[in-house]
Formats: sequence, structure tokens, C-alpha cells
Amino acid sequence: MASYYPDELINEVISANNLVDVVSGYVKLKKSGNRYMGLCPFHSEKTPSFHVSADKQLYHCFGCNEGGSVVQFIMKTENLDFVEAIKYLASRVGISLPEGNEKSSDGEYFQKKQKILEMYVDTARFYHGCLIGDIGKTALSYLAQRQIDAQTITRFGIGYSPDSYDALFTHLKEKGYSDKLIMESGLVRKSEKTGKPYDFFRDRVMIPIFDIRGNVIAFGGRTMVKSDGRKYMNSSDSIIFNKSKTLYALNFAKKNCSERIIMVEGYMDVITLHKYGFTNAVAGLGTAFTKDHANLLARYTKEVVLCYDSDEAGRKAVMSAIEILTTTQLKVKVMTIPDAKDADEYLKLKGAVKFRKLLDNAQSHILYKISRLKEQYNMDNTEEKITLVTNMAKIFSEVTNSIEREAYVKEASIETGISEDVIYAEIKKAGYSAPSAKIKPTYTQRVKSISEGDFRTEGTLLSLMCSDIAIWRRVRNKITADFFECPVLKEIVNNIFSFSPEDKPPDLIMIISKSDNEAVSRLSSLITNQQTVDDGIKAAEEMIEKLSKAKKARQISDIANSGDPRALAQMIKNLNK
Ligand code: GTP
Ligand code: MN
Repeated sequence: MASYYPDELINEVISANNLVDVVSGYVKLKKSGNRYMGLCPFHSEKTPSFHVSADKQLYHCFGCNEGGSVVQFIMKTENLDFVEAIKYLASRVGISLPEGNEKSSDGEYFQKKQKILEMYVDTARFYHGCLIGDIGKTALSYLAQRQIDAQTITRFGIGYSPDSYDALFTHLKEKGYSDKLIMESGLVRKSEKTGKPYDFFRDRVMIPIFDIRGNVIAFGGRTMVKSDGRKYMNSSDSIIFNKSKTLYALNFAKKNCSERIIMVEGYMDVITLHKYGFTNAVAGLGTAFTKDHANLLARYTKEVVLCYDSDEAGRKAVMSAIEILTTTQLKVKVMTIPDAKDADEYLKLKGAVKFRKLLDNAQSHILYKISRLKEQYNMDNTEEKITLVTNMAKIFSEVTNSIEREAYVKEASIETGISEDVIYAEIKKAGYSAPSAKIKPTYTQRVKSISEGDFRTEGTLLSLMCSDIAIWRRVRNKITADFFECPVLKEIVNNIFSFSPEDKPPDLIMIISKSDNEAVSRLSSLITNQQTVDDGIKAAEEMIEKLSKAKKARQISDIANSGDPRALAQMIKNLNK
């Protein structure tokens, strides 16, 4: 909940920006009662499922589950972070915000960002024009030799940066961009020696990098010269580009990836995969896989198949990506590519059918880790075998499905000659220290469960207690956050208890607006759908009763599952009281 403006000011900005007005700038809304409906700007649809509630000042799309307050709406449509969105909204209604941070004044900052985005589009067009023009012959034949056809070139907007120090600079000047802005874009730099501007990318095949909404935000440039040490040059981070939060081609893949995403290392792998029909492939941008990447993937899919290069660097990168991905609820699999260095080469050698087979046979991350472990130890040496089995048990302890675990243990026992019981004992040892973070449901799952109504009572109680001071007073001392099983609701309730005064019901819009947990923002569905109840206090009390029972049941089953004999005995004692 970090921001550097006082809450009152944020409140003022939010309430000065009527959601219906703001949304109308983007979506054609039709009124129906106190609600407005339109075509969702966040996913493509033909019949409207995007709802805006005028009195609750929240929006929600029943098609894609996007939702929130005016702040989330601007964050998403304008691609801004929280503080940027507040600035944007403040300048929209002429509220002045206190100065004093690295970003220059509001309007100026957004205009600049917008201008630079335009400059990137112009640049991509320029590079593409060069590729299909006279000077692009070598680059075109390079692409042809890599079997990248015209259709693929168009789809990915591939281009060519001329072998000249100022071709792009001159072009951008002609388009009317100022020197200052051109320098700030990173596309042209100043020579340290002469102070003269020079194009950053020269004589390279240019691959535009898109953000999730399809804006060009960076470039990757591949040399066509074998001896050139820098095979790829990539744009540095800028005000429109953050490498560690971007996945190449996710803008294309997002339409086609709800079941799984194939994650590869290079642009060229992605391009070839898409060409062969695997349009759910994305790549990092030459940097290590980050937690932000993992969260981004979890927003769009259930399963990630890592398909990295077959060299040692690729194998290492797989291991570290697994560690990060398994902190989410994503299913993680690994594909190993035989007889080729990467997916690009494999597809060209063996074709899509064989690749599909490899994909369908991708190993679970557990089995992948086990097979890598086995490579490190000599089973004929007793000492090494002991270390191996101990380490295997550690990996098995991460498996939450007991059937799956049993299968692994059986196999390991046969292979090593160590009894299943002994392996289980080791698993137990390792399991006790395993962090519970591993079983946190993902954002998508949490949102799903909320909207599917598993937590309807919890959600309704929450919105009731925020709607009326009398209910809030009554409820406040009767519940704690652990009455709420849904992690998202629990987070909100925790916030409510730490921030809300006794004499005012909690300001849910404010809490939602300020939350950086995206799932929280999607709670809008609950609130937009909240039904009116006759006797709120009575209804709230009934719900508290219900939740209290559910909480006890959870505690009992936790103890029963823990297998801790002392706690079990204590529980039975308590039950019989
Ligand atoms: P091709 O040889 O064109 O097929 O490249 P690739 O797709 O096989 O890429 P590779 O596996 O060699 O590298 C994966 C990714 O790492 C690339 O897409 C780039 O983002 C990045 N990369 C590779 N080489 C360089 C380099 O020399 N400099 C920088 N900055 N990044 C690189
Ligand atoms: Mn390659």
C-alpha cells in the first residue's frame, strides 16, 4: 500500500473523477438502470459484459474478470503504476499534487511517455520500410535463409536498421521529434567523444518488442555478421520499457494460452514456434527469469512449459526458473530438446508433429529436478547414493499430491534399493521445514473461487460491514481476519482492521484502489453485485456465526492433517468437553 500522497488527497482525486465519465473516454457505455454496460476494453468480445456501477464507482467485466475502481481502470488502460495513475487522474480534473519526486510534473510526464511510444511506432515503421525497400535486400535474404516468411515478417513487424550513423535520427527529426526527446528514447545516443548523435541500432535485423497491449516499447537487433561478438543488441530499460516485467510475444500469446504457455529463451524461438502454430509461446528478453515474470504468467495461464536451449546455460536457467515459478500455483513442466540446440532449430529439422510430441511428453518439474540430480551422483558409491536419496526426498517433499508422491517414491526405491519407508521418513523430515508458501493459491485461482461463489458468505459479510456504520460497529469486535478463508478477502480485512477508525465504516473503494494485489481489485464483482438486505445487522450476525463454525472446522482439519499426536490428543480432549 505504498504511496507518497496523503490518503485525503488520494480520496479527493478519486472522488473528483467520476468513473462513468472516465470510462466513457474509452468505452461506449449504454445506460441500464443505475448501471452502464459496454464492450470490455480488456478483452475482445462481441456482446457487452463490461459493467460500470455509477453509485458504487466500480467496474467489472463478467467476461474476463477485470475490475476495480477508477484507479485500476487508468492503471490498466494507460499502462501506469499507482502513483502515475493518481497523477494522471489529478491532472485530468485540475487537482495539483505536491511536487518532489524524480518525475517531472504530471502532464508533462505523460505527454512525454505518449510521445516516446509514438516515436517507437514510427521507428518500427521506418525499420520495416527499410527491410522491404532497396537497402533491405541482405536482411531479407538473411530472414529467408532462416525460413522466416513474409507473413511472419508482417505479423511480428520485423525490420532492418540501416548501416548508417544517422538514418533513424534524420528520419525522426523529419517527423518533428525534438533532439531532447529522441535522445531520451534510447534509439539514438550521443557519442561521448564527439558529442554527435548516432543511431543505436545499425545494420541489424530489428525485432520490435511489444507490451501486453501491443505497443512497441523496445527493440532487439540481431546482427547478420557471424564474427560480430554482440549477436543481439537489446534496448535498455526506459520510461516505457522494463525488461524484468516484459515477456516477448505475450501480446499475441494471451489470446491462446489459458491452458499453457511455452516459455523459451530467444525471440527467434518464439517467432518460429508461432509460425509452426504454437502461438502460445513467449520469451524473456535476455535477462534472468524474475518473480514479476512468474506473476505475469500466472495471470494468463495454468501451466508453464519451460523449453530452453539444450546447452548448460539453458539447463541452469531452467533450474532457476523452476524455483521462481513454483512459488506460484502454476503447474511447471520442462521440455528437453534432443538433437538440436533450441526450439527454433528443432522445429526446422523435425517439424511441428514431433515438437508437439515432445511438448505433450514434457516432464513435471519434480521429475526434471530428479533427473538432473541423478546425473551428479554415482549410484555405485554408497556414500554418494545416500546423499542422492536424501536430496531426492527433499524434492519429493515439495509434491503436494500424495498419489504422485507415492509413484515417485516407489520408483526411487526400486532404483536405489532403499526401502520406501526410509525414503518417506526422509520426506517427512524435509517436509516439516517446507515453507507453506508453496501451497498458496494463485491469483487466478483466488479470483476464480471468489467469483464462483465459494466465498460468497465471506464476501457478502465484507461488503455489508463496509456499507453501514451500525453494522461495522456491531461486527468490528466479533470477528478477526482468520474468519476469512479466502486469502484475498483476508488481506482486505487485515487492511481494514489496521486502517479503519471505529466511527466510520471502512472505505472499501479506497482500500481496493490502494491495494497492489491485483486480485483485490477484482473484488469489484462482489461489490457491484452486492444485494440489498432488509436487516443488515441480523444478516451480518448470521454470517459471522456461519464463518465461525467454518473456522473451527478448518482448525480441526488442520490438526487432523498435521499428524502431530500431541495436538490431536488435545483436540479430542477439547471436543469431548
Ligand atoms: P538466434 O541465434 O538468432 O537463433 O538466437 P536465439 O533466439 O537462439 O537466441 P539465444 O538463445 O542465443 O539467446 C537468447 C536471448 O538472449 C536472445 O533472444 C537475446 O534476447 C539474448 N541474447 C543473445 N545474445 C545476446 C547478446 O549478445 N547480447 C545481448 N544483450 N543479449 C543477447
Ligand atoms: Mn536460436
